[in-house]
Amino acid sequence: MSTSDPSPKASKGTERLLELYAAISLDGFLARPDGSVDWLEDPAFALNRADGSPEDYGYAAFYARVGSTLMGGETYRVVQGFGGDFPYIGKDNVVFTRQADPPDDPHVRFVQEDPAAWVRRAKSSPGQGSIWLVGGGQINGILLRAGLIDRMDVFVFPILLGQGIPLFGKAPIPETLLAGAQATAYPNGVVHWRHERTPPHHA
Ligand SMILES: NC(=O)c1ccc[n+]([C@@H]2O[C@H](COP(=O)([O-])OP(=O)(O)OC[C@H]3O[C@@H](n4cnc5c(N)ncnc54)[C@H](OP(=O)(O)O)[C@@H]3O)[C@@H](O)[C@H]2O)c1
Repeated sequence: MSTSDPSPKASKGTERLLELYAAISLDGFLARPDGSVDWLEDPAFALNRADGSPEDYGYAAFYARVGSTLMGGETYRVVQGFGGDFPYIGKDNVVFTRQADPPDDPHVRFVQEDPAAWVRRAKSSPGQGSIWLVGGGQINGILLRAGLIDRMDVFVFPILLGQGIPLFGKAPIPETLLAGAQATAYPNGVVHWRHERTPPHHA
């Protein structure tokens, strides 16, 4: 399966898809213990396509179908630490937080609500594109346990971090057989795993 599939399921459905799209280390971590993701930019992983352009792992096609982004407060603070503009300007950007007085950010809606409740409501508002579950681990775990993740695109990088923030956080998750998962290997050792929940919700 190509990573640049236009995803007809996502565009024809009556309910919005919640899509996890993330990169992890081979030992399952989203980030180092301090939250850093610098290892994703290691020159050892640099990869160009045949036309010389940088490999984007299907990101442009994925981003084009995204209407909303979801992240937890920890991920938001890491993103802010990168400096520069918020990376998803123009999307409906939601940050889950328990902070009573979140920062003032014109590009973001801070939501104190339970993420699962918010997602259930958002899914039933069709025609607004996919919902990108950006992460991090805590929010991923909450939405996995709630059974709300429709598709996972996980890019496994050939590095062992040894410790860090797990893909689904530190709270237990149920054993889950990802039947029908498909994999695409890149020449730099990155492997893209895609799993779509079945039976599909969409025609
Ligand atoms: N490799 C990748 O592709 C990738 C992608 C995304 C993120 N990451 C990494 O993941 C790390 C962060 O993951 P994380 O697990 O530590 O944190 P997280 O899931 O990003 O955020 C956790 C935060 O979400 C808020 N939250 C949690 N439960 C909530 C609830 N029920 N209601 C409202 N808000 C709630 C709280 O925010 P407050 O603290 O504001 O109250 C909590 O501290 C970062 O280091 C980031 O770099 C990596």
